Amino acid sequence: MAKIIVVGSSSIDLVVTSSKRPGAGETVLGDSFTTVPGGKGANQAVAAARLGADVTMIGRVGDDHFGEAILNNFTFNRVSTDYVEPVTHMESGTAHIVLAEGDNSIVVIKAANNEVTPDYIDQSMNAFQGVDMVMIQQEIPEETVTHVSRVCKKLGIQLLLNPAPARPLEEEVIENAAYITPNEHEAEVLFSELSLSDALRKYPNKLFVTEGSKGVRYFDGENEVLVPSYKVEAVDTTGAGDTFNAAFAVALAEGKAIADSVRFANRAASLSVTKFGAQGGMPTREEVEAQM
Ligand code: RIB
Repeated sequence: MAKIIVVGSSSIDLVVTSSKRPGAGETVLGDSFTTVPGGKGANQAVAAARLGADVTMIGRVGDDHFGEAILNNFTFNRVSTDYVEPVTHMESGTAHIVLAEGDNSIVVIKAANNEVTPDYIDQSMNAFQGVDMVMIQQEIPEETVTHVSRVCKKLGIQLLLNPAPARPLEEEVIENAAYITPNEHEAEVLFSELSLSDALRKYPNKLFVTEGSKGVRYFDGENEVLVPSYKVEAVDTTGAGDTFNAAFAVALAEGKAIADSVRFANRAASLSVTKFGAQGGMPTREEVEAQM
């Protein structure tokens, strides 16, 4: 069983559905409002656990109702919360999501996720023992991402960095990571000086650009490869990227070849969009294998 740590955010998603996305200064009438578990870190942890990995989350929640709900959701999905410590007098992270016109718009309030600090990582060092893969995203402080990349390098643990939401990365962090998985927009922010093809060639078998319904693009050392995604009827694309990252990490940690890992991850991501909510459609291992 692959042993994975996720260092990242845990939030509650406040989701409204509407037939129309409001423009600046506009008010529209929506259709529904729902609260569901989310946060890129938590989503990736839950997705990896459903796919059969032994997952430990390193994160923070607020000392509030949402924090309790987030912890219960981890436990329900068999994600260890030994390193998810509630922050006193602080709110849990929230994501404010509008689902309209077939896509989402999201505003994230990091709140307690800002307390996933380098010091907190140092206090959580026991979690890193015997780990196959560490996953991290960018809804936590930038210095923590740098710090975790150094810890992974020092301990010889592979780091999968999902650079979302977009922000420029130091070269050191890129070097320390084993895999980097931006979407097209994030790739432009990271490699603004390079064309996509040049960026892929610079980081063979390391940079994997997710292109939504088109698939995932990388350079395998000889050729630029586009592994196509599977076509499905999408209900909610929120969390598809998180499912891709988790499934990719699980497959790689289990020793699967890169091309097979991308295919497995694409299949998992395609299933995730068939239900409502970031975690609603995240598949189990059996569900993905039945489709492969
Ligand atoms: O990647 C999807 C996630 O991004 C949502 O669950 C929301 O919490 C935002 O952080």
